[in-house]
Amino acid sequence: MAALTRTAARAAGTLASAARVPVWLAGIAGADKSFAKNPILGSPTLNRLGLHAARVQLAARMAEQRRARMAPLVDPADRAAFDRDGIVIKRDFLDPETFRALKDEIFGRRFAARELRQGQAVQRMVPLGRDTLPGLPQLSALVSHPALRGLTYYAASRAGEPVYYLQTVVAEPDGPNDPQTALHADTFHATTKGWFFLHDVAEEEGPFVYVPGSHRLTPERLAWERAQSVAARGHANSHHAAGSFRIREEDLPGLGYGAPVRVAVPANTLVIADTFGFHARAPSLRASTRVTVHTYIRRNPFLPWTGLDPKALPGLRGRELALYLGFQDLKRRLTGRGAPWRPVGPVTVDAPAQV
Ligand SMILES: [Fe+2]
Repeated sequence: MAALTRTAARAAGTLASAARVPVWLAGIAGADKSFAKNPILGSPTLNRLGLHAARVQLAARMAEQRRARMAPLVDPADRAAFDRDGIVIKRDFLDPETFRALKDEIFGRRFAARELRQGQAVQRMVPLGRDTLPGLPQLSALVSHPALRGLTYYAASRAGEPVYYLQTVVAEPDGPNDPQTALHADTFHATTKGWFFLHDVAEEEGPFVYVPGSHRLTPERLAWERAQSVAARGHANSHHAAGSFRIREEDLPGLGYGAPVRVAVPANTLVIADTFGFHARAPSLRASTRVTVHTYIRRNPFLPWTGLDPKALPGLRGRELALYLGFQDLKRRLTGRGAPWRPVGPVTVDAPAQV
């Protein structure tokens, strides 16, 4: 009887897996990156035959073609810096008066926020979108600033509606290690993250770290990607297994890249990076709280066009993050799993951590 039950359970499992094959295949044609969650992507045999490497190579070629079409959106000097380094750092981005007005609008006000603890750092997030931006004219102007948008689109290699949120990082130097302090690529294709800094960030306050030029797919990087992909599924580091490959600093020269740089910047600086390039958050050597306006875009890397973004349609525009968080809340209620961004109620953006 027990053997029969086991056979039935195995058969049910096989059927359930078969039903998911189309979903896994669609993920391969899109932005799926987790070797642990998608067994086709995670297959050592297929990756030995070059599945992951082919996706990396095709995505890089498509990104190059899309960026060439979006070049007019970006100032030539910024474009040259981005093409060379994969990161653009623009100091004094706003004029002093506008910057002061923006800070007045943000600080001293209470926002409905969420928090996530990762090791020694707590991140606080206040989504900025259709539900929150009305009544915030300075933030509204910043998130539609043509230079910010142009750079974001170019770095992401596609236009569309970016996600924006107020991001606070409360770093507590005595806690356990923060997983974001390991050098890594976010995914297998060009994608962007950007920060507009409201505070100065000193060297010892956990600045962003980036490996200049590591957004470029060198032949050595492609070979490294292929090697990682074969064993990624069972990697001890869950982020690595999920497709955000970790790398040791001593392995960078072998991929044709230089040393990481710390992006310690004054307030009123905009930083836009392609996070296919290797990056990290440096460990904070002292307690610090920093607030930025954070932005990102991540989409299907294989599409030839730069626009046609379903997330920019009326009804969805400016709601991607709110919808994602609502979905995660529901998933957590139903299954006990889901992104642990805990609502902490209305707080000021620079309040102490609540979780
Ligand atoms: Fe990252």
